Amino acid sequence: MNTDKWAYLDDAMVASSKKTIKELFAEDPERAKKFSLNAAGWFLDYSKNRVDRKAMKALVKLAEASNLKAEIEKMFTGKKINVTEDRAVLHTALRNCDPKARVNVDGKNVMPAVRAVLRQMGDFSDLVRQGKWKGFTGKRIKYIVNIGIGGSDLGPVMANIALTPYAKRYLKFFFVSNVDSTHLAETLKAVKADQTLFIVASKTFTTQETMSNANAAKDWLVKKLGDKKAVAKHFVALSTAAKEVTDFGISPANMFPFWDWVGGRYSLPSAIGLSLMLAIGRNNYARFLRGYWKMDQHFRTAKFERNMPVVMALLGILYSNGYGAETYCCLPYDQYLSRFPAYLQQMDMESNGKSTDKDGNPVEHVTGPIEWGEPGTNGQHSFYQLIHQGTHLIPCDFIGCCKTHNEIGDLHDKLMANLFAQTEALAFGKTADDCRKEGVPENLVPFKTFEGNRPTNTLLCDQLKPETLGALIALYEHKVFTQGVILNIYSFDQWGVQLGKVLAKGVLSDLTAKKPSGKHDASTNQLIARYRKAVGR
Ligand code: F6P
Repeated sequence: MNTDKWAYLDDAMVASSKKTIKELFAEDPERAKKFSLNAAGWFLDYSKNRVDRKAMKALVKLAEASNLKAEIEKMFTGKKINVTEDRAVLHTALRNCDPKARVNVDGKNVMPAVRAVLRQMGDFSDLVRQGKWKGFTGKRIKYIVNIGIGGSDLGPVMANIALTPYAKRYLKFFFVSNVDSTHLAETLKAVKADQTLFIVASKTFTTQETMSNANAAKDWLVKKLGDKKAVAKHFVALSTAAKEVTDFGISPANMFPFWDWVGGRYSLPSAIGLSLMLAIGRNNYARFLRGYWKMDQHFRTAKFERNMPVVMALLGILYSNGYGAETYCCLPYDQYLSRFPAYLQQMDMESNGKSTDKDGNPVEHVTGPIEWGEPGTNGQHSFYQLIHQGTHLIPCDFIGCCKTHNEIGDLHDKLMANLFAQTEALAFGKTADDCRKEGVPENLVPFKTFEGNRPTNTLLCDQLKPETLGALIALYEHKVFTQGVILNIYSFDQWGVQLGKVLAKGVLSDLTAKKPSGKHDASTNQLIARYRKAVGR
């Protein structure tokens, strides 16, 4: 690695801080066109950022000096870039639509297995959707309950909501993730045992929340249907762990496998997408994968200055490491994308929330941003005040679709008008003089002035379709990957979630034991004692 590479960020900052966004637009009437890109059905307008050509050139040099090109190739060709877990990172193989593609891991082409699982999923979803997969009492399946958490939940939930217009409405989908018994209990109240299919989605098949819920659901089903054999008709598993699946009581025939080279938060296009395929059917699911693939190809081949994920990643680095922006806001102006910000949170924060670099040293730069967001226009009436006039710099991605699936009067025009207007207001603000010209009394001028110069990206597609959703997810995956490469951190492990899991086991035994160990800190011991007293132990 070129250790001086961060000097390029300094160069970018020098260029970036010379002019405001307003001044940049004033000096170049072609700016909007020049700072826009197209890829895989998405249009990105990044002209409302604090960058000119010079700044972008310096940022591209930062990417080049980070050996990004070589790192991209390593990922796509199955090199073990997840070093701390000694694994390849091949979610791109899951959506590789080239029938002749070969992708090797440890000298073995993984593509035949990828295609075989897709066929298995397709055949199964045909049976369920056509009512040919019968439950234990001979009834067709109507309710589908995905039990999983993290990457085995957030992607399926997000995509099922996003592609509702393509879904078979007869089937009713539920997603149980939380170990809070309320989540499962309320779901079980809404379904009928003899018409319910439980999908146990867990890469490891050991996750406490998922296995507790899956076991409870199994007990419920067996009790309701009065026979252990019912499990075979009402439970399937999505996992890498064949033995654990069999031990749970699900036959290998009802297991949809994936592999250790698929990270949990990148697993939606693997067997983990079964609930989505059941909803939208295998053909629409193929379109979804094709969208991913298009963006993958763009990322792998486009020059960095025209490469959408790379450009978005570089802008993110500029704001986090140049301007000290701590958070990043995702604002989809499409109700179908309501869970997209939550999905992005895991993708970005579990990937790049690291403080050790690849050499094992403390990082010297700000790593993953705090990712957050809500659908527009709702957010406008809640937290946008802070984005417009607060003291934090919060770069935002606005995401919109030109055509709605639900034309009602002029609602969609209003929605999009709000999106465009927000980016305009954030970039250009309102000066004190503008306020005065409007007759704002002098004592109110400071309060009604908008500084502007607040950066935004706008992403537009024609309509939210399976392929545009796939491409959108891949766009952000590759943005996160690019940032990880530049920051010189490992983006595909997640050791930080382990400690809490281990401690929870010890606390659980203290909550339930005859006598608690008292081995925790004073605060935790006190909380345990209070809980035990409240529940009568
Ligand atoms: O605890 C974090 C995590 O390991 C995530 O990375 C993962 O998506 C989630 O738990 C669920 O894991 P699994 O699919 O193995 O149940």
